[in-house]
This record gives sequence, C-alpha cells and structure tokens, in this order.
Amino acid sequence: APFRLIALEKVDSTNDEARRAAQAGSGHGTVVWAREQTAGRGRRGREWVSPAGNLHCSLLLDGGPEPSRTPQLAFVAAVAVRAALADLVPGAVFQVKWPNDVLCHGRKISGMLLEQASSLIVAGIGVDVAFAPEPGLYPTTCLRQLGSGAEPFDVLAGLCEHLGVWYARWRSEGFAPIRQAWLDGAAGLSGPVTVRLSDETVLEGTFAGLDPEGALLLVEAGGGQRKVLAGDVFFRR
Ligand code: BTN
Repeated sequence: APFRLIALEKVDSTNDEARRAAQAGSGHGTVVWAREQTAGRGRRGREWVSPAGNLHCSLLLDGGPEPSRTPQLAFVAAVAVRAALADLVPGAVFQVKWPNDVLCHGRKISGMLLEQASSLIVAGIGVDVAFAPEPGLYPTTCLRQLGSGAEPFDVLAGLCEHLGVWYARWRSEGFAPIRQAWLDGAAGLSGPVTVRLSDETVLEGTFAGLDPEGALLLVEAGGGQRKVLAGDVFFRR
C-alpha cells in the first residue's frame, strides 16, 4: 500500500498534526511521524510521554462505508503493531491487550489512540523504542530493554507494511479475520480481570473474548455476561 510520509522533528501531537493535514486535504495513507511530541496524548485524557528515541506516528485511514464499524480499526492497528514488533524481536512474546495496547511479557510497549478527523480516522500509534515510561497504571518496557537496536523509523517501516496488509484484509473480508488474529494474540484470555469503567465503576470477572463490534466480553461471578465498550483492564492472578 502506498503511504505518504510527513516527517517532523517536533510537534504537539501527531494526532493533531494528522487532523490538520486532513483539513488541508491530505487523504488516506498519509503518515505523520515526529521524533518528539510536546503534548502527546494517551487514551482517556492521559498524557503520553514522548521523548525523541520512541516512535510517535499517526496514520490517516479511510474508515470505509459503514461508520459504525470504524472502531474496528483499533484492532487492525493493534494486530499490525504486534506483527511489526514480532519481526523486530524474534523470540520475544508480544500480545495484544484490550482495547488496543501491545504488551511484551506482560509489560506495555505500545498504545494507540484512534480519533475521527472529518471523514477520516486518525490512528495514532506510540511505540516505546528507546525509553520505557515510568510504570503508572501498567508495567512498561521498550525495544531497547528487549535487546533490540531498532530505530523509530525501522519500527515505522515495519508497521506501515503490516498495516497495509491488515487494512486491505479488513476492507475485503471484514472484521472476522482481524478479530481472530487479535484473539490469537490476546493476553489474559479466559482469565480473571478487573475492569475500571470511565465512571470509576469496577467490574470483576473472566475475560471471555471480543464481540463482533470489538467490545470486551466479561463473564461476571454470577454467570451474567457483560459487554464493555470502554475501560481499563487489569489482569488478576
Ligand atoms: C494509550 O495507550 O493511552 C494511547 C497512547 C497513544 C500515543 C500515540 S503517540 C502518536 C499519537 N499522538 C498522540 O498524541 N498520541 C498517539
């Protein structure tokens, strides 16, 4: 798939720059990459520490004809990031974590933030390459800690390659193969989890899978099944 790269030294947030590019007429396949972000954003209003040495990029993607299905792109991106990282560190075990983190040996190494930019989707992807942020909500790692000498651009190149393939697959075959690939690489499947919703409600149960829309399926102690659309997941043991 052809990508068009906008490479920057420093920007507030590549997601914001990608939105500005979309407003100025850039289309599907535009990739904004910055060595450093001064206002990197994580999910749910959190800060994303973005030093030079890590990868910060945002891709403009055509969300397809059905707006209700665009949230599925988060899983397309997560599967692509996992594949790109696995290529770079053979032997390491990478897993996806709902909704769209990538972990290595249980530690977070990548996060994604998908936003809407007029008719396009901005898929913002951060990969900790040289520096692992201070562990906050979750334990963290980076490619360098895993013994890889990869540079941010190496990660970006692999990512675009895999994303091109998985995106095309999503457009032609729908969510089923993406969902399957995601489940094949999912951390904590069938295990006990605690889920914290945005209103601070805490749920406990078993992580039973992913529904066709990408919601987390949680089986609660009483046996009832619940769909979680947004929240933070913690694995229990
Ligand atoms: C998360 O795990 O909370 C999501 C983190 C997303 C970070 C990336 S870095 C590139 C893009 N620009 C941003 O400001 N955020 C995303």
